Order: sequence, then structure tokens, then C-alpha cells
Amino acid sequence: MSDTGFYHRYGPWAVVLGASDGTGEAFARALADRGVRPVLVARRASLLQQVADSLPVPSRVVVADLAAPDAAQRIDEATGDLDVGLVVYNAGANTADGDFLAADEDALLSMVDRNCSTVVRVALRFGARLVRRGAGGLVLVSSWGAWAGSAGIATYSATKAFDLLLAESLWAEWREHGVDVLALALTATDTPTLRRMLEERGADLGELVAPEAVAAQALDHLADGPTWNLGAADPTGPAPFGDMRRRDAVALLSSAHRSLFAE
Ligand SMILES: NC(=O)c1ccc[n+]([C@@H]2O[C@H](COP(=O)([O-])OP(=O)(O)OC[C@H]3O[C@@H](n4cnc5c(N)ncnc54)[C@H](OP(=O)(O)O)[C@@H]3O)[C@@H](O)[C@H]2O)c1
Repeated sequence: MSDTGFYHRYGPWAVVLGASDGTGEAFARALADRGVRPVLVARRASLLQQVADSLPVPSRVVVADLAAPDAAQRIDEATGDLDVGLVVYNAGANTADGDFLAADEDALLSMVDRNCSTVVRVALRFGARLVRRGAGGLVLVSSWGAWAGSAGIATYSATKAFDLLLAESLWAEWREHGVDVLALALTATDTPTLRRMLEERGADLGELVAPEAVAAQALDHLADGPTWNLGAADPTGPAPFGDMRRRDAVALLSSAHRSLFAE
């Protein structure tokens, strides 16, 4: 699709949730390069402002904690005067790594709020706006961790499976209304959050995907939903574990996680 076609379908404004660094920042820059004006949402106001100041198009900064119950309403209200054609729900990394029973309850539930409850609230509010306008897109960023359960990331992988299935279901409901929904399943990507986690654990995942590649590929394939498994040989193909028994897939992921992130 040409930049003009993209702008008409998914512009003039796009909301990027979790836009102060990493893949969210890359989405904002890639959108701006296509002429679409991003609304930048995250908690760190100064970083958001730095991103905004460096973009070649006008933008808007909304400071919000996506774990807060009123976040979706605040973002909806803060963009009520804008014609929003695309929403990218990017924020969602694991903030409670480790064994389930050792995790802090508040940290787990805050992750569920940010990765599930606010995603539903954002989808309700912005989905209604997109369906009303009859064109646009919604991207929910998920993870390889959504394909099967795994020890060490129980709540995280459950929230990412939630996002994947929510996006697939909304794709089926909204496609006849002209709204493209994409579940974007990412593999290890070179973001500040992942870098921090790897440094804390002294772990090395080898080559990481560049955030710019994530944003470019997702924006090029917004209409190729319901699911884009980035990094797979066939990103719209079958789930990566194929016909492997689920028990074996869970055991495989769990032992990979344990050996990578051994204390
Ligand atoms: N990096 C990877 O290897 C990888 C692999 C698979 C899937 N993913 C998925 O890719 C997405 C991005 O991951 P990431 O590694 O860049 O880390 P991330 O921490 O999910 O995303 C960073 C961005 O999200 C914002 N953010 C985080 N928590 C927030 C909150 N409570 N409220 C508002 N904004 C919040 C951060 O800004 P502030 O701190 O300023 O709020 C920052 O802009 C996630 O959905 C993750 O599950 C990543």
C-alpha cells in the first residue's frame, strides 16, 4: 500500500500505547514517516516529549498508567477531537518474572490490568470509534509466550494468550466493518525493557529483532490478520508447535525458560 493509501485508511491520527521507547517508539516513528500523526501514550512524560519533539509530523502526548482503571477513558477523552484510524496497544512486557508462588500479588494483578483489563476497555472505546468510521485498524501486541504455557512466566503468557485470542476474535467481528485487527506475536526484540531484563539475569538470547523491523512489518501487514507471527517462516501460518502434544510444548518452553533465566 502506498503511503497515501495507508494515510487514508489508517490516518490521520494513530494512538500508540506504550510509545516512550522500544517497539512503541518505533511504531510512532514509522507512522510519522507515513504521514500519520501519533498520539504517544506512556508514563514517562519527558521521554514521550522527546519522541514527540523529534517527529516530522504533529503529535500529541498523553501521560497515563495503563494499569489504572480509568486509563482507557482518559485516553479516549484526550483524543476525542481527533480522527483516529489506528490503535497500537504495545505496552505489555513481563513485569513479574519467576515462579508463580514467589511473585508479588500486586505486581501480577497490575500486569493483568495493563495487559487484559485496559486492553478490553481500549478495544471497547476505540473499537466503537473505528467501526463507526468504517475503516482503520487495531494491533494488539502479543508474544511467542502466548503459544503455550510455561513455567516462570505463568501470568505473563496467560495475558499474552488473552491478547492474541481477543485480537483474533475482534478480527472476525470487525472485518465486515472495514476494521483490520492484528494479533502481533513477537519474538525476542531489542527493546530497553528486554535489555534490562537480560542484564539483570545475566542472560543472552543471541540475535534480537530490531524494533524498527517490528513496526515496519506490522504496518505493512495490518490487513493480513488475524495473526502475524513475526519471525516465523510463514507469519500467517500454523501455530509454531504444530501438532506437538501440548504437554510437550509446555515442557519445551519451560525448560528453555529455566535454562535461559537460571538464577
Ligand atoms: N521485547 C521482547 O523481546 C518482546 C518479546 C515478545 C513480546 N513482546 C511484546 O512487545 C511489547 C513491547 O515490549 P517491550 O519489550 O518494549 O516492553 P514494554 O515495557 O511492554 O513496553 C515499553 C513501553 O510500554 C510503556 N509502558 C509499560 N508499562 C506501562 C504502563 N503501565 N502504562 C503506560 N505505559 C507503559 C513504556 O513506557 P513507560 O515506562 O514510560 O510507561 C514503554 O513506552 C509488549 O507487549 C511485549 O509483551 C516483547
